[in-house]
Amino acid sequence: MEKQAITSYIEKNKQRFLDELFELLKLPSVSADKKFYGDVIQTAEMVCARLLEAGCDTAELVETKGNPVVYGEKIIDPNLPTVVVYGHYDVQPADPYELWDNPPFVPVVKNEKIYARGACDDKGQMYMHVKALQTMVDTGSLPCNVKFMIEGEEEVGSENLGTFVCEHKEKLSGDVILISDTSILSNENPSICVGLRGLSYVEVEITGANRDLHSGVYGGAVANPINVLSDMISSLIDANGKITIPGFYDKVAILTDAERAAMNSAPFNLEEYKADLDISDIVGEDGYTTFERVGIRPALDVNGIWGGYTGDGAKTVLPSKAYAKISMRLVPDQDNEEITKLFTNHFMAIAPSGVKVKVTALHGGQPAVTKTDSLAYNAASLAFIEAWGKEPIPARDGGSIPIVALFKEVLKTDVVLLGFGLDSDAIHSPNEHYGLFNYYKGIETIAMFYKHFVALKN
Ligand code: BES
Ligand code: MN
Ligand code: MN
Repeated sequence: MEKQAITSYIEKNKQRFLDELFELLKLPSVSADKKFYGDVIQTAEMVCARLLEAGCDTAELVETKGNPVVYGEKIIDPNLPTVVVYGHYDVQPADPYELWDNPPFVPVVKNEKIYARGACDDKGQMYMHVKALQTMVDTGSLPCNVKFMIEGEEEVGSENLGTFVCEHKEKLSGDVILISDTSILSNENPSICVGLRGLSYVEVEITGANRDLHSGVYGGAVANPINVLSDMISSLIDANGKITIPGFYDKVAILTDAERAAMNSAPFNLEEYKADLDISDIVGEDGYTTFERVGIRPALDVNGIWGGYTGDGAKTVLPSKAYAKISMRLVPDQDNEEITKLFTNHFMAIAPSGVKVKVTALHGGQPAVTKTDSLAYNAASLAFIEAWGKEPIPARDGGSIPIVALFKEVLKTDVVLLGFGLDSDAIHSPNEHYGLFNYYKGIETIAMFYKHFVALKN
């Protein structure tokens, strides 16, 4: 009965739900670049206004040392359970703009998908929660209290959210933290994310001579920082795909054969995976499947590398400096600060004489796993069964949401990662998109979650 009212409300309001999301997507709330600060604030204000329209009793922008957190709540009865929703309104930079088929902040629908920066990560997914609240309020089916905490610094490491959470423990108390900022395996095989990787992100700088040199006059006689950096980087992963930093794997949790088998029983089509990326082969640590390589094993990747001359034509120069940004994705029970130290010590140690090395830690976060035997997980599973007609598979994602580990530690509340994105949605890439099906189905699934969660609580 209730489901019928919810699905028909969503059906009737499809266009409005889409138009409203478009308004959010038009604002370039890029947290990494100060020049978008005005848009960041406008986005926060729009989210706040939409929370009030959707039925929150109160909503406000809470100042932090960085971008404001949007906090809103609707308390219908203090004796009822409370769902705390977390999401982020900031987005990744849209560069390189020329690789987008449509401008990143001019949303369009093509082939049943919404194209824009933030369409999936995380404006589209965050906004599903706002519309789910409105759907429940307007159909008289909101079964409990709800609190929203929508931040504006996730894409730069949630640096100030930790302080916000610690200072507002009481305000953020609840029975479950619900987050839609992860993926499902596919629309045919829905899944619930039960693990996120941690992150240690560093920038390295190699300095050779005190100035750029003529590469003929000095080449072969003085260390070239780019050559050195390339060597150092390539030594960080061996021929078996193992990271060579001493102690790096010491705390990596080893899963049982049964756990690994369960993980690998999820459907995976290697040919489709390769075709989607237009690659002829995959790589990775020997002895592990693709699911395992992104879910339960760490990884080290260069995210950017620069130095020397990169303009048109050829300039013969032996550069003074070379740089790289390197990320390490971590798994339980690795600790991001410890890994940053291990990296730094190792990277200094392997530098040849003749160059200077500087390592700067940029940001990081701890890995997190969520329970599959909790009431909240069961409610999420029932919600999928009801909305998708299929039991969801638990699956670990390779991405990171740094604040999740802190939620567990400080608020001691169970987290449910109820995301609806697809790996192929091109988040952080040009032509990011989000399926209309996922947007609307997500709203429905969230509403079903509330119903089952409160029913199981009683
Ligand atoms: N929503 C993503 C994380 C994610 C993506 C989880 C796909 C699961 C599946 C989030 O917005 C993100 O991009 N996080 C950053 C964290 C970093 C900037 C500190 C990441 O993973 O690179
Ligand atoms: Mn995100
Ligand atoms: Mn992201």
